[in-house]
Amino acid sequence: MANVIVVGAQFGDEGKAKVTDLLARNADVVVRYQGGCNAGHTVVANGQTYKFHLIPSGIVYEKKTCILGPGLVIDPKALLEELDALKERGLDASNLKISATAHVTMPYHLTLDAAEEESRGENKIGTTKRGIGPTYADKCARSGIRIEDLLNEEVLKEKLDFMVPRKNVLFDRLYNLDEMDVNEILKEYLGYAQRIKKYVCDTSALIFEAVGEKKNILFEGAQGTLLDLDHGTYPYVTSSSPSAGGACVGAGVGPTIIDRVIGVSKAYMTRVGEGPFPTELVGAAGDRLRETGAEVGVTTGRPRRCGWFDAVLGRYSVRINGLDCLALTKLDVLDDFDEIKICTEYKDSVTGKIYKDLPSIGSTFQQMTPVYKTVKGWKKPTTNCKSLKDLPKEAREYIELVEEQLEVQVAIVSVGPNRDHTVVIEDPIHGPKRVLTKPATVSSSS
Ligand code: IMP
Repeated sequence: MANVIVVGAQFGDEGKAKVTDLLARNADVVVRYQGGCNAGHTVVANGQTYKFHLIPSGIVYEKKTCILGPGLVIDPKALLEELDALKERGLDASNLKISATAHVTMPYHLTLDAAEEESRGENKIGTTKRGIGPTYADKCARSGIRIEDLLNEEVLKEKLDFMVPRKNVLFDRLYNLDEMDVNEILKEYLGYAQRIKKYVCDTSALIFEAVGEKKNILFEGAQGTLLDLDHGTYPYVTSSSPSAGGACVGAGVGPTIIDRVIGVSKAYMTRVGEGPFPTELVGAAGDRLRETGAEVGVTTGRPRRCGWFDAVLGRYSVRINGLDCLALTKLDVLDDFDEIKICTEYKDSVTGKIYKDLPSIGSTFQQMTPVYKTVKGWKKPTTNCKSLKDLPKEAREYIELVEEQLEVQVAIVSVGPNRDHTVVIEDPIHGPKRVLTKPATVSSSS
């Protein structure tokens, strides 16, 4: 039995779905614990490409229980569209379970997300416009609508009667937008409730039972550590807790049941939306990574910003998540580069100070310039490599450099989109846990 969290160690889009898919083979239950349909998870299985937004990617396997936990925000319309699309492709979602206490993204959240972004002007966050921030804001303000409320017409009407007029004041006075009608929303959402009610239950209790039965549970993170509301590059973050701690809160389990935390990082780095990105490559080098890596957002279709691997942020992720090991994805994208860079520390362009760890004052982040170590590229295709020894020497050295910089073992390397384009160096679940080779220190500067 092993209960494992898979977490994005960068800015999201690290290839978590492929790693989850690999590990889901031996899992009985796959749980999503935060976020909503802002996520875009791609799985290539049985010769088909599946793109998931809300539904855990474990659904591609028959008989796995797939859970949307209490920490999610669920847009029922988007969920039903995804379910219909899966059905059309022959995937059975009867094992899907939805937490009764997950929050619901309502039409006014979608409108507000777009309107707030617009009004931020130059300071926009670059959200996916899926209503995520406004839904979590209402949740925190204790005015949210939960899945269980959709199932009770009286409660839903009462909540809408409270919320809609308040949102209409904003639409009218602040954003010059059309007002919304309670009865229209009520009718539409009661319709969705009819279709989703068969999936709704107490998912935390379900996981608790599965733990008691010694089943394998996989917690599938969405987005990434640096988009975490508390630990990411605030305010350029999402509104949930993608990092490992969020798995316990968002799924409703105690931390003592977790056996492993596996981080997923690309062999380079990408980011969608605004916010600091010290190793970003603009111009031809960035375009080359973007084109080779097909770096386009699954949810929004936006081109992703691309750059070199940032070990400062990597070390931060190891710390925030307590990573036991790392899955390094898309190594093959670097196959043709003469030279590859890895950022080992930052230099403050104003004070000249060197930082080995993330500066604690976030506002100084913008003035950090990366200090690079440059290594020779391997200039050979890696996609057909099946084991560590098949990888070119320089590629192995690059993996070692990542391990040395992050002080964590790379257990899995992904060298292509398919399930068999994977090099397993060490069993990520049963292999040795992370051992610090020297006392852990966090230096703000040196
Ligand atoms: P939101 O989650 O839509 O509010 O967007 C907030 C920030 O998180 C924006 O920069 C988005 O581009 C980013 N973001 C949200 N979901 C994902 C994802 O699944 N992958 C990568 N970035 C994401």
